[in-house]
Formats: sequence, structure tokens, C-alpha cells
Amino acid sequence: MLLLFTLMSSFQALVATASEIPSSRNETLIGSAKKVAVRIVGGEITNIRNYPFLVSVQRRHFSHICGGTYIAPRFVLSAAHCMVRPMYGDKWIAESPLRFYAIAGATYVYFPAFSSMQMELIDRILPHTNFKFSNMHHDIGLFRLRKPFYISSYVRYVALPHAYDANIFQRYTDPCTAVGWGRHIPESDKGVGTYLRSVNLSLIPAEKCPVTGVDDKVHLCAGMLEEGGRDACQGDSGGPLLCNNTQIGIISWGQGCARPNSPGIYSRLDLYLTWLNETILNNDAAEIDSNLINVILVQLIMLLIM
Ligand SMILES: *[C@@H]1O[C@H](CO)[C@@H](O)[C@H](O)[C@H]1NC(C)=O
Ligand SMILES: *[C@@H]1O[C@H](CO)[C@@H](O)[C@H](O)[C@H]1NC(C)=O
Ligand SMILES: *[C@@H]1O[C@H](CO)[C@@H](O)[C@H](O)[C@H]1NC(C)=O
Ligand SMILES: *[C@@H]1O[C@H](CO)[C@@H](O)[C@H](O)[C@H]1NC(C)=O
Repeated sequence: MLLLFTLMSSFQALVATASEIPSSRNETLIGSAKKVAVRIVGGEITNIRNYPFLVSVQRRHFSHICGGTYIAPRFVLSAAHCMVRPMYGDKWIAESPLRFYAIAGATYVYFPAFSSMQMELIDRILPHTNFKFSNMHHDIGLFRLRKPFYISSYVRYVALPHAYDANIFQRYTDPCTAVGWGRHIPESDKGVGTYLRSVNLSLIPAEKCPVTGVDDKVHLCAGMLEEGGRDACQGDSGGPLLCNNTQIGIISWGQGCARPNSPGIYSRLDLYLTWLNETILNNDAAEIDSNLINVILVQLIMLLIM
């Protein structure tokens, strides 16, 4: 059963999603959608200061749906499946940016610390155009913030790979780390996104990865073989897989969470460096989006409910 590590937040959205999913994956998507996501499985509780580039992508009002990382002024890197809605066949459409906002500098996403936290609206959604739900290739996308976050000891840019690394499995022999606010008890709905967690995992070359559909060219497999018990889970999607303090993967999908012999699958970031560069350059205009009025309205609503 394939599971996207996304937290589907509103029941309405779930129902809509479930009925529109391409047939080969519908069961699994529905399965994941039904469970409210909460945290990394089997890791340890941590603080945003240890991962100041980590961003919580939320849906109005105050529901964490995905992780992301701050990579450039106004740009949050995340998974494509966090920002699109499946249609018929393998088609999807981008969600409206007005549905989302991003929070940086917060350890507790539902009890924000006003001294360190920054909240910003999303004004553009940029999923990789070749992303497909059927094979989960190119599960990468950018949320463009209306304004940049300012850099502080709680908010920083993540380090990205400099180039494609053909020896990635030989290079990172020490454990890598996945981090997020997702579910931490597999198959349970208890305890909503209160704690930020990190978990140490090993990179597993595709030929040793016991998950079907893993393609070395676009995916990285990471977890614990045999024992299970450690993984990323729903609500962690879009967040980083870090090795030696560099983000090398984006939390994407898996079969269940933390099951023995079922590691998690990550989008392989070093393949997308040119895509990132071009997408940021092409969308970095200082223009103001036409729906500014809506954006202001959303902000007013958020101010009122805070
Ligand atoms: C997906 O949904 C269609 C129609 O709702 C159904 O016929 C098909 O059996 C489902 N596929 C799976 C894998 O559940
Ligand atoms: C995870 O790995 C980091 C660095 O590799 C290490 O400092 C930390 O103690 C590890 N945590 C656990 C729970 O093993
Ligand atoms: C880890 O990072 C340090 C500092 O950036 C670097 O000197 C070292 O070569 C890196 N190790 C690996 C295995 O890439
Ligand atoms: C991204 O663009 C910058 C500036 O144009 C360039 O220096 C850098 O090499 C590019 N990186 C990649 C991975 O294309």
C-alpha cells in the first residue's frame, strides 16, 4: 500500500481527493488521507534551532499539512504532491496559493512562539510539471512566499548539494536525518503535530531497497532494513532528508510507516539543481500578483483568528 507522507487536513478535501484519484493509486491515497497525520516515527524530540531551515506548510486555518525547507529568499522547497490535487488519469492541477501559508522559526506549529516565529502567505505554487502520482517521479515543488522570511537564529537557508553526486551512497556512510512534525505513531491518529522530531536513517541503494517502484535516478531510499521502527510518516512530506547537514532528499512516499523492511522514499535532490535554479530565476519577479486583494483579505482573517 502506497502512502504519501502528506497530512490531508480537511475532511472535505479528503473526500474530493479520494474520488478523483487515478485508479492504480486510489486505495492507497484514500488510506493515507483517512488517518490524521502527526509525526516522525521512532525519532527524538528536537527544537527548530537545530533545523532553522525547516518550514511548516499549513492550510487555512492552522493545520499543518507538509514540511518544507527555506532555500532562497521567498522560496520554500517541498514535495509536488503537497501542492497539487489529483484529477483523472495521471493528471493533476495546482492548488490555489491562497489556501496555504508557511510558518518558519517555530518548534511547536500549533502553539507558535511569537518571539521567533514568522508567518508568510504563499503567492505562487510551482510543482515540477512532470510530477506523476502513478510513479511518484519528480515529487518536487516550490512555494513562493509573498515576502521573504528574515534570517535569524531560528530561520536560515538550508544547504543544498552543489552538483549531482554519483557516489552518494559511498559518501554518506554516517546516518542521515529526516525531520518533521508528522505522525509519530504508525496507524494512530493520536497527538496532533505538537512536537518536532528528527530520526536517524541510513541511505539504502535501490538494489537493496525492498520497496517496489523505486527508481535510483529520481528517488532515494532511506530507513532501517529488517528492524523497522524508524521512518518518516504522514505530515512529514516535503521536509528534508539531511546528510552531513546538507539536504539531499525530499520526504515523498512509502509503504506504511516504519514497518520492517519498508524504508521511506525521498525525491533525489541533486538531480533537480538546474530545475531549482531556473524555476527560481523565472519566478523571482518583484511583481505583485493580481489577487493581492484576496491575499490581504486572507491576512486580515488570519490576524483576527490569532
Ligand atoms: C480505484 O477506483 C476505481 C473507481 O472508483 C475502482 O474501480 C478501482 O478498483 C480502484 N482501484 C483500486 C486499486 O482500489
Ligand atoms: C543521530 O545522528 C546524529 C549525527 O549523526 C547524532 O549526533 C545523534 O546522536 C543521533 N541520534 C540518535 C538518536 O542516534
Ligand atoms: C561534511 O561536511 C564537511 C563540512 O562542510 C566537509 O568538510 C566534509 O567533507 C563532509 N563530509 C562528507 C562525507 O561529505
Ligand atoms: C545556478 O545559477 C547560478 C547563477 O546563475 C550559477 O552560478 C550556478 O552554477 C547555478 N547552479 C546550477 C546547479 O545550475
